[in-house]
Amino acid sequence: MSATVEQTGTPEFVLPKRLQGLQPTLIRQFFERALPGSINFGLGEPDLPTPDFLREEASRVTLEEQNGYTSHPGIPALREKIAEQYPHLDLGISDVVVTCGSQEAMTAAFLSIIDAGDDVLVPNPSFPAYDACVRIAQGNPVYYRLPAEKEFAFNIEEFKRAITPKTKAAVVISPSNPTGKIFTASDLKQIAEALEGTGIYLISDEIYSDLFFTERPHSASKFYDRTVIVSGLSKSLSMTGWRLGWAASSRPEVMKAIHVLHGFLTVCTSTITQKASLLGWTEEAEAAKQHARDVYKKRGAFLVDLFQKELGLTATSPEGAFYTMLDIRTYGDDLDVAERCLQNRVITVPGVAFGSEAKGFLRISFCNTEERMAEGVARMKEALGA
Ligand SMILES: Cc1ncc(COP(=O)(O)O)c(C=O)c1O
Repeated sequence: MSATVEQTGTPEFVLPKRLQGLQPTLIRQFFERALPGSINFGLGEPDLPTPDFLREEASRVTLEEQNGYTSHPGIPALREKIAEQYPHLDLGISDVVVTCGSQEAMTAAFLSIIDAGDDVLVPNPSFPAYDACVRIAQGNPVYYRLPAEKEFAFNIEEFKRAITPKTKAAVVISPSNPTGKIFTASDLKQIAEALEGTGIYLISDEIYSDLFFTERPHSASKFYDRTVIVSGLSKSLSMTGWRLGWAASSRPEVMKAIHVLHGFLTVCTSTITQKASLLGWTEEAEAAKQHARDVYKKRGAFLVDLFQKELGLTATSPEGAFYTMLDIRTYGDDLDVAERCLQNRVITVPGVAFGSEAKGFLRISFCNTEERMAEGVARMKEALGA
């Protein structure tokens, strides 16, 4: 029937411009094609179990309480707890919006700041969602290099070079996905100095801020007033499926916009999740975060060492999160190497998924036991004929 209707002149569907060319990330594309029994060095998803006290509180709340909508920006007590994480900003509850994961906070922040045609500085390499969100907001991603030859460390000259008269916002992520590197206090100060007086907003992705292996990373908001923090509990408390994130900032003009947009996007994040998340900063929760730091730190060191011993390859030394970048240039192109690994039941992500600077690298996530990682490296060795 639709064919006839179309012949009679019904216009064909045209995808809105803001969505044209939008694709699922290469991370997902590789994951979806994995063979049964694959070792997963691909997804950035904690394998540690969600702590029992959170599960128990969520079931209690489900059984004993009525769980209707909360106010759009979230339960006030939860917003208070989030505000307390940033004492230097002296935030009130209206400066925090609880979102469905930090992903929603990030999308809402871009949509609230960027206008069509604005430039947004994005690290190269970085999490592919920034590029997608900027495009959805009809902005232009402009990349600043985190040079591969310097283990992807921040470089202020690269950052300054990328600023244009149309720059409206810039993204920083520390600890970084995909590199596992941390922006130092000096890096963040240099960024603040470069942006002072420009009116440019900084979107600071702090989703991995509790997963650090040496010193706790600084929030960019300590150095620069126009910062919007996006963060959440997904990674530090193994709560990816619970969808608890937030946007926080001392800038009311942005928080008001995020608040309104969030109401229309999702109304509120799950009430059960919000109530259980009130326990996200208790002693038990802090102990769970410390445990996660200890586990991932040990695994990262183990894996980097194994790559050297078994494959003769160098991987960046992780400072936080649960990623390392493996230099596979001696074995060829990253897409090709990742494909060979995939066919031998090891999921990795080709560096190019995160930007041109990571070409020739694989992002390896170490959300696996040492035993599984050793098996994964053995399979990679076989796949590469090393
Ligand atoms: C850098 C980064 N930011 C944000 C997110 C989104 O996480 P969530 O929405 O679960 O908080 C992820 C998830 O992988 C990520 O790696």
